[in-house]
Amino acid sequence: MTSEIISTSPHPMDSILVRRLKFAFDQVPTSDLVWSRTHPDFSIFINALGVHVPHFERFLVAVLREIRDEKNGDLASPQLVKDVQAIIGQEAYHAFNFEAWTRRLNAHYLRLPAIDAHAKNYFLRALETGSRKFKVGFVAGYETFTFLAGMIILDRYDQYMRDADPTIRALWVWHQVEEVEHGAVAFDVYKACYGEHEWYRRQMVLLAFMHIVWETFKCYAEMIRVEGYYRKPWRAIKAWFFFARFGFDLGYAALPVLSASYHPRTHPLCNEQQNEVALAWRSWTAAGADAHNLSNENVVQMLAAHELSLEPETSTV
Ligand SMILES: [Fe+2]
Ligand SMILES: [Fe+2]
Repeated sequence: MTSEIISTSPHPMDSILVRRLKFAFDQVPTSDLVWSRTHPDFSIFINALGVHVPHFERFLVAVLREIRDEKNGDLASPQLVKDVQAIIGQEAYHAFNFEAWTRRLNAHYLRLPAIDAHAKNYFLRALETGSRKFKVGFVAGYETFTFLAGMIILDRYDQYMRDADPTIRALWVWHQVEEVEHGAVAFDVYKACYGEHEWYRRQMVLLAFMHIVWETFKCYAEMIRVEGYYRKPWRAIKAWFFFARFGFDLGYAALPVLSASYHPRTHPLCNEQQNEVALAWRSWTAAGADAHNLSNENVVQMLAAHELSLEPETSTV
């Protein structure tokens, strides 16, 4: 892993580090595809959501490269250019890892490869035929939800993944922390390109939300079918209730995004006290811990080290 800066930033979006991780998904036992023992429905949900995510991430990388490389383009701020470079680096690594994880899932869930291929084609077509404004707007709309989901999931860490497979938990904690770190970049790029087009930005937020829900819905339906949920109707009802509840929470968290004065850095979720797991993970990995593995013991040690770092130093005279 490479970290360029060791940060104790006061705001989670202050430094965007490219952590070059490659997870060993072949060491995850098939019994751990549903990887959270604390909340199996969450792990199926997030597996389902993650299937189309790398295709979006490849799309984002291509779109932002196009914008970055424009002669006399709209990215006048050197800081924004630097942030664009960093988000491209982070998302390229995300896509690499999610594609590898999807290959494991595709081998287990019969109808998943077709859904995955369809999701990939959608973004390839959008890249080929979409207007510049659509592409920049869609990236900004999508990044609204990757950032908000990042915050929601990290805030519910205990409820969702206190006891979980160490590799897949490490994948998701890494991904969610980085989604929060670069959560303002796509928004800033849209503003730099089409700042005055607020209604279009709102439309793209809505379109991205519907797209995420629909892609996740298709994968989730297949996964709970294969996992045998429909043999126990109550289990299936509970699983769909979880899906609806998470979708509602994500949509509700996005309401401030519709305001003309919105900026991701001042979103209420991001503005409150920083997430403890994110802070602990950032310090822990910056200090050289292996971010590819987050066993239950690692998490206990990581949180304890973070607690200790917060204690005021006592002097002995
Ligand atoms: Fe990502
Ligand atoms: Fe992202």
